Amino acid sequence: MEIVILPDADEVGRVAASVIADVVERKPDAVIGLATGSSPLAIYAELARRADAGELDFSHARGFALDEYVGLDYSHPQSYHAVIDRTVTRPLHLDPALVSVPDGMASDLTVACAAYEDAIDAAGGIDVQILGIGANGHIGFNEPTSSLASRTRIKTLTPKTRADNARFFESPEQVPIHCVTQGLGTILRARRLVLVAQGDGKAQAIAAAVEGPVSASCPASALQLHESATVIVDEAAASLLRNADYYRYVWENKPGWKRY
Ligand code: F6R
Repeated sequence: MEIVILPDADEVGRVAASVIADVVERKPDAVIGLATGSSPLAIYAELARRADAGELDFSHARGFALDEYVGLDYSHPQSYHAVIDRTVTRPLHLDPALVSVPDGMASDLTVACAAYEDAIDAAGGIDVQILGIGANGHIGFNEPTSSLASRTRIKTLTPKTRADNARFFESPEQVPIHCVTQGLGTILRARRLVLVAQGDGKAQAIAAAVEGPVSASCPASALQLHESATVIVDEAAASLLRNADYYRYVWENKPGWKRY
């Protein structure tokens, strides 16, 4: 894995945006895996700025969201359909017809999950997957003990994740208990992974994911199995990494020819 430690959250967003921009410049119809939550917002803001400045064109790019709550109507402002539309599709000027979010309202969720996997395959697979990380090490909504081989399916959110996400809702009870999420196996099939984390609340999860054993107990540790995974963190999220000095040394000495 490539571990990039940067001074602050803004810089995390800027560098991660450059990784995504590089993929889209090389392949204008790239397939981008989209995370929700707070962590990637600076990435989307920076990509939107570059799109508005005419430096990037997302009109041919495709997007696949990682997850969705079960039972939240799409008109609900916190459904990930609505969040992706508000924070990604519109600001980056993506074609809404090319952006997909798992269907948490389907009458048959199992069928809908299989259809989502098929849609990713039909699009040629995900070129670059943006990821945040939960304080418990989850990626997507793959909570601890998720199978490392899992595919898109229904999951039960932990009380900790529901409490963490309560800030987006009027009351904690409104956070759905169930979700549909791409699996760890789905995520590992993306050609490139970019995980971002900011703040000391993520320090323990980052240390476990990067330097702990590969284990379903820390779902993000599955990134160690991927051949092209970059973890971009601020100093606070990096504070428990034992080998932080080495990661800084590698980044400072990254050869110019080795693009993002
Ligand atoms: C959301 C997702 C989650 C979040 C994680 C961190 O699509 O996949 O894994 O990335 O819960 O959330 P924030 O960024 O809000 O701390």
